Amino acid sequence: MSLAPSLKTLTCFDCGNEQDAHRLTTVCSVCAMPLRVDLDLGTMAPAEVIDPTIQSMWRYGAALPIRPEDAITLVEGWTPILEVADSVWVKDESRNPTGSFKSRGMSMAVSAAVALGAGRLVAPSAGNAAGALAAYGAAAGVGVVVAMPADTPRAFIDECKHYGAKVHLVDGTISDAGRFLAENRHPTDFDISTLKEPYRVEGKKTMGYELYEQFDGSLPEVVIYPTGGGTGLVGMWKAWNEMESMGWIGPERPRLVSVQTAGCAPVVKAFESGAKYTEPWPNAVTSAFGLRVPGPIGGFICLQALRETNGTAVAVPEEDMKAQTSALAAATGIDICPEGGAVWAAYLRLQKQNWLTADDRVVLFNTGTGLKYR
Ligand SMILES: Cc1ncc(COP(=O)(O)O)c(C=O)c1O
Repeated sequence: MSLAPSLKTLTCFDCGNEQDAHRLTTVCSVCAMPLRVDLDLGTMAPAEVIDPTIQSMWRYGAALPIRPEDAITLVEGWTPILEVADSVWVKDESRNPTGSFKSRGMSMAVSAAVALGAGRLVAPSAGNAAGALAAYGAAAGVGVVVAMPADTPRAFIDECKHYGAKVHLVDGTISDAGRFLAENRHPTDFDISTLKEPYRVEGKKTMGYELYEQFDGSLPEVVIYPTGGGTGLVGMWKAWNEMESMGWIGPERPRLVSVQTAGCAPVVKAFESGAKYTEPWPNAVTSAFGLRVPGPIGGFICLQALRETNGTAVAVPEEDMKAQTSALAAATGIDICPEGGAVWAAYLRLQKQNWLTADDRVVLFNTGTGLKYR
């Protein structure tokens, strides 16, 4: 198995240092910040990139660093959008094989890690990423070790065990789980943590390509996304930059909105204060577990994406998030997770504040199933 010929280099999102894309790599060797996967896509037209016969994210194979025929896949992505109000759609990521958008990133990252000769794969997780890594590791036939906060709901833990992964439960947040793995790692283990590994973003970027197809060759005016580590947001932003470089779209972009909850909102705080980097959030608390990321290494990339697209960042109170999760599920029949409920709560606030206009076509992301949180 090899990487796609269009793969050029890995470039640090922060300092611009370039590294060999054909070696198993985590972060920038100069500044330890996240690396971007750079591809030489030229001016391929949509018809040259999109293979409509493939009913998964691998339909964009020509724009991906792994060829579809080499993918470790459980048929992820190409999820539906459902109109829930006039000009408002939910993109429903709960339909993915492991019940969240994390399937996309792990399909890509596990494919790349296997192609580059990785042994055992390890990652800290708030829950959904661990389940996805466990499933794709099983599909690839490689060992997986995950660490999660001890208060992670039972279904996430059982899911990982179901796929044969070794599970560690750690007191604290995902940051503590990451520290635990760093201290207990075998030298040949490969760390596949959010944005400490370059290829997960390449899977997530397919959400940006899907929106282009689902809006008939255009993009919506606003995309509202729940932000923890930031891969979903960063992935779509990267996809749209690639589309512009290929000549599919001009400089216009959907206004990206980052949603967090009031109990853990480092991106919102930095956005509001004008800071370039996020600061660690003390005593992070929220039952939208995917948003309980107090120190996202890629926070500065999220901030850049929000500012470049004239977007914004919203912290919703915990109680509001809970109430709106139930309200949207009951009103639509869509399996809304707490992170998706936070997005709906943020949408209602932005509407009230007239940040949204009558002409805006708005996409809300329901990033996973609500059923694992019980
Ligand atoms: C359901 C759900 N939504 C959103 C997120 C946040 O995703 P990201 O870390 O890519 O920002 C997560 C992460 O665990 C999640 O599980």
